[in-house]
Amino acid sequence: MKKDKAFIFDLDGVIVDTAKYHFLAWRNLANSLGFEFTEAHNELLKGVSRVRSLEILLEIGKVALTEDQKQSLLIKKNEEYLSYVNKMTADEILPGISKLLDYLDVNNIKYALGSASKNAPLILEKVGLLNRFSAIVDGNDVSKAKPDSEVFLIGAQKLQMKPENCIVVEDAIAGIEAANAANMVSIGIGDAELLKKATYILKDTTGFTNDFLKNLIN
Ligand code: G6P
Ligand code: MG
Repeated sequence: MKKDKAFIFDLDGVIVDTAKYHFLAWRNLANSLGFEFTEAHNELLKGVSRVRSLEILLEIGKVALTEDQKQSLLIKKNEEYLSYVNKMTADEILPGISKLLDYLDVNNIKYALGSASKNAPLILEKVGLLNRFSAIVDGNDVSKAKPDSEVFLIGAQKLQMKPENCIVVEDAIAGIEAANAANMVSIGIGDAELLKKATYILKDTTGFTNDFLKNLIN
């Protein structure tokens, strides 16, 4: 039976906490270029594409590089990041997410992934969730990054759902803006002040109670 609501999930910061691995890899890169890279700097890279992340990092360090040098740093960063990703297991699925997916399955509510990460399929495979999503839209499928709505509109299309019947779960401001621009319901996970443009805000991924979900879906 096809229900008239569907979910689209961001990956990093919603399904798994990979921000810590991005941080380690970006910090090592910055250190190798001779400057510090802090956790606060890392916040600026949430939801941002790999290429744009490097640009922001180089602005922080006030370092100018050629295109070739940038390309080789992007490869180096991703290799280190993947060395952490390759060790990931289902233990790293954020609290409440498995229960939420079970709830959606039981209620025949479809869900897709809408992530800026080009590594999304590998990460889902590592944590054992790859086959559970009806559709996956990742950094390889989009030409315009969040806050553009493209990633979520492709997700809705793949799910054969109207945008207004899609519910996006996001931890980044750019992601909430993308969902709102797509005319979807947005659920922000994290700081209420930061994510104030979201339709609903939950402190963390344990907030998906059955009451909240029933209210949302009906
Ligand atoms: C997500 C993360 C960003 C990351 C981006 C690209 O949006 O929040 O921090 O830069 O994906 O990830 P990738 O795995 O392609 O480098
Ligand atoms: Mg995210």
